[in-house]
Amino acid sequence: MKIDVLTLFKDMFNNIFSESIIKRAIDNNLVEINIHNIRDYSKDPHKKVDDTPYGGGPGMVLMCQPIFDAVKSLRTSNSKVILLTPSGTLYKQSLALDLSHEEHLIIICGHYEGFDERIKSICDMEISIGDYVLTGGEIPCMVLIDSITRLIDGVIKKESYQNESFTTNLLDYPTYTKPRVYEDLEVPEVLVSGDHEKINKWRYEQQLKLTEKNRPDLLKGDGSCE
Ligand code: ADE
Repeated sequence: MKIDVLTLFKDMFNNIFSESIIKRAIDNNLVEINIHNIRDYSKDPHKKVDDTPYGGGPGMVLMCQPIFDAVKSLRTSNSKVILLTPSGTLYKQSLALDLSHEEHLIIICGHYEGFDERIKSICDMEISIGDYVLTGGEIPCMVLIDSITRLIDGVIKKESYQNESFTTNLLDYPTYTKPRVYEDLEVPEVLVSGDHEKINKWRYEQQLKLTEKNRPDLLKGDGSCE
């Protein structure tokens, strides 16, 4: 998969993909990530990218021209163009999985007080990562790239995410490692029993309990999995 990111703050992406699973995916040519400065596409002599909003209001608004030109130069017939905005549709694991099958993503990070509404006309989808407002689309973009890349075929083992939180409508079960007792806190007996039927049953019960406590919306079917 190829991912092109359009941002005004390229440096925010320094090092973020140079560790761990994403780095390995890049090194193994499973994903290619290119970060582009929106300003490089500005035709203005002063490289201006934003202006005041028509009708008045606070802040500066990202202009059409640099974004339109950037998308025109990067887009192919297999590209999906994503705009990050708090007013987009809510991001979920199921969408991450769908997007992990795409060939090419162009992700536009909105900034300042917003962007010219006409930019939406060249986008395939508008995504919000949650019901809160961040200073820009850069961190949401990193969230998308991380969550999508780990689901690309060959990046991690399928077993690693088949039963994890949000893949089913249950949160993940608790896990433990050595030592058996740490500061009076014991590993549940069943996990050292060697009885895999019992272990699976216990894990399922824990998933149900945790989901009921922390995310009852998932059990009602109106949560993150659909
Ligand atoms: N930009 C600012 N806040 C955002 C959010 N919650 N999701 C996506 N983009 C954003």
